[in-house]
Amino acid sequence: MIESPERVRIVEVGPRDGLQNESGQLSVEDRIAFIERLADAGIRHIEAGSFVSPRWVPSMAGSDQVITGIRRRQDVRYTALTPNLTGLQRAMDAGVREVAVFAAASEAFSQKNINCSIDESMQRFAAVCEAAQQAGVAVRGYVSCAMGCPWQGDVPAREVARVTGLLMDIGCYEVSVGDTIGVGTPRQVQQVLECCMERTDASQLAVHFHDTYGQALANILAALQLGIATVDSSVAGLGGCPYARGASGNVSTEDVIYMLHGMGIETGVDLPALVRTGQWISAQLQRPVQSRVSVATASHSEDGEDP
Ligand code: HMG
Ligand code: MG
Repeated sequence: MIESPERVRIVEVGPRDGLQNESGQLSVEDRIAFIERLADAGIRHIEAGSFVSPRWVPSMAGSDQVITGIRRRQDVRYTALTPNLTGLQRAMDAGVREVAVFAAASEAFSQKNINCSIDESMQRFAAVCEAAQQAGVAVRGYVSCAMGCPWQGDVPAREVARVTGLLMDIGCYEVSVGDTIGVGTPRQVQQVLECCMERTDASQLAVHFHDTYGQALANILAALQLGIATVDSSVAGLGGCPYARGASGNVSTEDVIYMLHGMGIETGVDLPALVRTGQWISAQLQRPVQSRVSVATASHSEDGEDP
């Protein structure tokens, strides 16, 4: 075990992973306001939209208007999901400078999510990476179902490591290892990540946890102890994947930030401003905030205590 990093980079996925599963469509204006509030709260890496088929994921339609509508800040990286060359072209037309491709460690999930096998997806992603590189666009990679699959069950760590290595080989600068359905536990997380680290350096790995079984913070701690310093999360715990039965929200950014700051780890994020953003977006979506820190902060405020 090595010491936890001094600083962690948060990749806020709320405007994409968070909103993609919402049945009520949020207006383009509200999606833009959401992203700007996150940037104002100190988030420096935001997944802002998704250029997938609008027939597959209707809530991400209009991502081009969202991306072109935000007041771009030089110190913020805005990423968008792109499953293929069509998506890359649409993203670049909107002025996106960083995209994400998303593979799976489970054949069954790959078919359900992107309608092709893992190997076929890798060919598509290689073409995306090549075209993106020529245009000077950075590519981030995802490996979904790294701790288990809703359709296939167990997923071997070796397969997670293989797909992670392939994404690095085709030109991703970093791979986010995703527990899409939130079933993993800390020792398993370390085994999977150690397997990935035989081929891919910890500095090129990120973790992406959903909190379905309440394990996400423990799993993040397990990853930090291996030297991983990039964490995906979603404000107010928004999220879920339409093609992963039972996937609940992502780990909430507020709870991650509270834990990291409590451990003396820097993030650059203003927690009270982030809590307000989580409460604002939850009100827009008419759903309760799925963040323990946010709920605790609200009850402190009601008691007149300083949070
Ligand atoms: P397909 O039907 O196999 O694609 O879908 P196709 O190439 O046969 O095209 C069918 C139609 O879609 C055509 O239109 C294409 O032009 C159009 P038509 O001729 O019928 O009118 N099309 C597109 N339109 C807009 N943008 C595009 C695009 N591509 C084709 N990029 C496809 C294949 C990949 C497109 C589809 O399966 C898809 O969009 N899947 C996306 C699923 C998705 O977004 N899932 C959620 C994100 S993954 C996730 O949440 C997990 C993650 O968070 C990690 C974790 O949590 O662990 C990343
Ligand atoms: Mg996710």
